[in-house]
Amino acid sequence: MIEALSSGRYRIERALGHGGMATVYLAHDEELGRPVAVKVLPEHLVLDDDFRARFVREARLAGRLSHPNIVRVYDAGEAEGRPFIVMEYVPGTSLAEVGRLPVGRVVDVGVQACAGLQHAHDAGLVHRDVKPANLLVREDGVLKIADFGIARAAESTRQTQAGTLLGTAAYLSPEQIAGEDATPASDVYALGAVLYELLTGRPPYAFSSLGELAAKQSDGLIEPVADVEPSVPREVEAAVMHALARDAGFRPGSAAELAQELGTERDELPTRRLPQRRAVSVRGRRGALWLAAALVLAALALALGLAKLRNGGDDNRSSPPAPTRVTPPTPAATAEQQARNLARWLRVHSR
Ligand SMILES: Nc1ncnc2c1ncn2[C@@H]1O[C@H](COP(=O)(O)OP(=O)(O)OP(=O)(O)O)[C@@H](O)[C@H]1O
Ligand SMILES: [Mg+2]
Repeated sequence: MIEALSSGRYRIERALGHGGMATVYLAHDEELGRPVAVKVLPEHLVLDDDFRARFVREARLAGRLSHPNIVRVYDAGEAEGRPFIVMEYVPGTSLAEVGRLPVGRVVDVGVQACAGLQHAHDAGLVHRDVKPANLLVREDGVLKIADFGIARAAESTRQTQAGTLLGTAAYLSPEQIAGEDATPASDVYALGAVLYELLTGRPPYAFSSLGELAAKQSDGLIEPVADVEPSVPREVEAAVMHALARDAGFRPGSAAELAQELGTERDELPTRRLPQRRAVSVRGRRGALWLAAALVLAALALALGLAKLRNGGDDNRSSPPAPTRVTPPTPAATAEQQARNLARWLRVHSR
């Protein structure tokens, strides 16, 4: 099979890794002259026609996605009856190999994963299998989500491979464990579980069987992130715990919302303050108007005071005082002129 592939467009160079259902190879695309990653289905799965059809169909759907945080699917085909998917090669590591990361890095990869997930969700695709092995970090730090759509094809196979399922169950949402359909909120939960593990070094629940996991997911408590790792800021802990809400309806409303909760909003604060800055830029005109208004008020107060003085300041006199005539300040065309007129008027009337 490798020979068959290599004699065609994709020359296989070496295996990059083995997963629960396939092997991924580094290959060279002879036509476009670039490295690619080729995922090849193992022989035993090829016998299942249904599975083959689903695998290729899902690969086609994933092939429609184009986003910097999603591994591009370039091509799909069959070599000697074995389906394969050709995708963007991501030199680097997967999050399954990095262990714990500093908070800043966790927020960084979390926000990037949210961007990729949001793009797919907007296109109507749910990943269903967000887990550290499917989150690849390129050498320059860019995160790429791998295996979009493939999880659906693999679901039936997974049920028969208890070992594999157990290994990835830690990131499955309670609704998926309960056998319900995955939704965008399920991906949000799974990403929350990945981020929890990156921060604390362990998944949200410890379990040795799916039954135990299901029981803990329904009434167990997740140890707060900061209890395990006190250096984690409160808003990061809150975002991760929010994503891990048991009930999908209580999670962040979307992957984009989770990204905001993780802290991207903080960078945008200056934008929110902009209206204040704009107010400062027109201070010349507005300031003069306010000054004029303040001076008018001061002038009126002064005029009243003068009137009182002239009247002897006695309010209890039986005959009413003669009204004092105070001519208003000369009107002006501009606010600045108005202010000057008022100042002059004040000087005159305060003598
Ligand atoms: N596009 C890629 N570029 C570089 N390395 C990749 C790429 N896709 C996968 N890999 C590597 O190959 C390994 C195996 O991938 P694969 O998707 O087969 O298995 P998995 O994700 O670990 O498990 P599962 O079969 O459940 O998805 C990954 O862990 C990763 O290190
Ligand atoms: Mg994978």
